[in-house]
Amino acid sequence: MGRSDAVLYEKRENFALLTFNRPDALNALNTDVNLTLIELLDKADGDPDIRVIILTGAGSKAFVAGADIKEMMNMGAMEAREHAIKAKRVTDKIWNLNKPVIAAINGFCLGGGLEYALACDLRIAAENAKVGLPEINLGILPGGGGTQRLPRLIGLTKAKELCLTGDILDAGKALELGLVNAVYPQEALLEETMALAKKIASKSATSVTLIKSAMNKGTEMDLESAALFEIDCFGLCFSTEEQKKGMAAFVSKKK
Ligand code: CAA
Repeated sequence: MGRSDAVLYEKRENFALLTFNRPDALNALNTDVNLTLIELLDKADGDPDIRVIILTGAGSKAFVAGADIKEMMNMGAMEAREHAIKAKRVTDKIWNLNKPVIAAINGFCLGGGLEYALACDLRIAAENAKVGLPEINLGILPGGGGTQRLPRLIGLTKAKELCLTGDILDAGKALELGLVNAVYPQEALLEETMALAKKIASKSATSVTLIKSAMNKGTEMDLESAALFEIDCFGLCFSTEEQKKGMAAFVSKKK
């Protein structure tokens, strides 16, 4: 349990399943969700049994339909700024976590919902997924990193189109743009995402952490610094038992 049931926490084998749990509001993100999510991400990160974290939405309609418009509508400028800083704390946490985070996108994934999914390491969508940044239609702009992470992921051309039109994409189009890794029928989404989580969880924890770190931090650096950072990560792997066992097994033709 976190501070409230706005996000549910389940530990399953070696991964944690976190479920946005406001289905009546299509899992819209309010302050309670954000504070609970941060607490639960810390909990999963601190549990040595947990190797991968999955985020999904309660109900069959939505992952997250965006930030809670009802909570935001009467905010002044500084209050809205403070609110966006809280959302940034969430995306920073997902991005910098030692463990990979997978978004299992089961329906609407809009605005802040897409921004949280963009901060995840992998995104798996159900066939009914609908993704987009419709903030322009509310007279605002994406405030949770959407204008920055989306172009880094799919390129400036398509990202600008999505931000400027607020158009919503279906799962097939999202796959075509490289916005999601795979698409499955809705009833298979969680099972397939869990299979992916288990596959990653079966690998060296050090390699997994360092790959995430090298790729997330490295892509924010100049190429020379990033390549040197990668080299340090590479060296560090040689301090682990998994590297010793992995290479010895290859040489002796064992699994
Ligand atoms: N905030 C608050 N409540 C929301 C919500 C949101 N983002 N999205 C949906 N809801 C609520 C609705 O108000 C409705 O509640 P009531 O039953 O109490 O009226 C309930 O969820 C069901 O929604 P709909 O009846 O609208 O469902 P629908 O199937 O007809 O439409 C939808 C679904 C197209 C996703 C529509 O709900 C919608 O357009 N939602 C808003 C999407 C949006 O603009 N998201 C961006 C928010 S701004 C943001 O995220 C800022 C940022 O960058 C951080």
